Amino acid sequence: MEDKLKEIQQKAIDNVKKVVDLDQLERLRVQFLGKKGKVTKVLRGMGDLSPEKRPVVGKLANQVKGKIGQLLSQKERELKEASKKKQLKEESIDVTLPGNNFDLAKKHPLTLIFDEIKEIFLGLGFQIAEGPEVEKDYYNFEALNFPENHPARDMQDTFYIKGDTLLRTHTSSVQIRAMEKIEPPIRIIAPGRVFRSDEIDATHTPVFHQVEGLMIDKEISFANLKSILIKVVKELFGEGRKVRFRPSYFPFTEPSAEVDVSCANCNGEGCSVCSGTGWLEILGAGLVHPNVLKMAEIDPEEYSGFAFGIGVERIAMLKYGIDDIRLLYDNDLRFLEQF
Ligand code: PHE
Repeated sequence: MEDKLKEIQQKAIDNVKKVVDLDQLERLRVQFLGKKGKVTKVLRGMGDLSPEKRPVVGKLANQVKGKIGQLLSQKERELKEASKKKQLKEESIDVTLPGNNFDLAKKHPLTLIFDEIKEIFLGLGFQIAEGPEVEKDYYNFEALNFPENHPARDMQDTFYIKGDTLLRTHTSSVQIRAMEKIEPPIRIIAPGRVFRSDEIDATHTPVFHQVEGLMIDKEISFANLKSILIKVVKELFGEGRKVRFRPSYFPFTEPSAEVDVSCANCNGEGCSVCSGTGWLEILGAGLVHPNVLKMAEIDPEEYSGFAFGIGVERIAMLKYGIDDIRLLYDNDLRFLEQF
């Protein structure tokens, strides 16, 4: 019987060594130590032993039982430890891995140009002014020296709403509103949306954007206007671009000019983008007409000023090489994602 017990113990040792998971281990426990297990069976047979032998075998049986129990618990600890390690390894996060990419929204090219223009003028001490898009004839035309029935009103095809209410055709209306509100000196820019009933084509949309500028102070001259605009154009398009002032006409400025930049596409040689002229127009400007100052109750003897209106779509098209203005309004992601 003692041999039998030793044999059982050895078998248990061998079997426990081969166990790879907790289920197998539990099966072994039942097999060796369970109610119908091998050791229990031996203990049951003790009744047949002589009284002298009984305590000896009983002791051995208990030792074997203890030993096997110990083996099983040790194996159980090992298995649990290993599975915990495995789990930790599987669930660990590698913080050095690159993150998941997700697409952030981007700014619309027109917003980019607005931001850039604002940045430049804020740096020059200008403030941002606003006015309504639904405007009175007075601010859009009359106070800007467009007399009633004056042919200059036909320069801009106006969306009339009712009576003397219209959609502003330019941001110049904000000049008047600023002069009503602010005592000179005045330095404002007015970025905004404007409306004209133009046919839609590659260079026209009925809604477009301008940035108006107005500076009023003592002894402001055309030289001040030129120097500021040249600086702005160079900042927007880079040092290499040439700037040209061309005489023009607006009722609210005198003298008036239109400003062209040399065509980037052909470097001023003349190509299809610039209709062979080598130049592209980006803004209108001039010295504020004395009549306009008078309407706003500013004394033209004491103060003078300049104003300009920048075409934002024009700038965006030139800067980014966009050949059709409609692309700016189609909201095609393939286009917008490029900026
Ligand atoms: N308002 C003019 C336009 O829309 C531009 C301009 C603004 C010209 C200010 C002179 C001074 O064409």
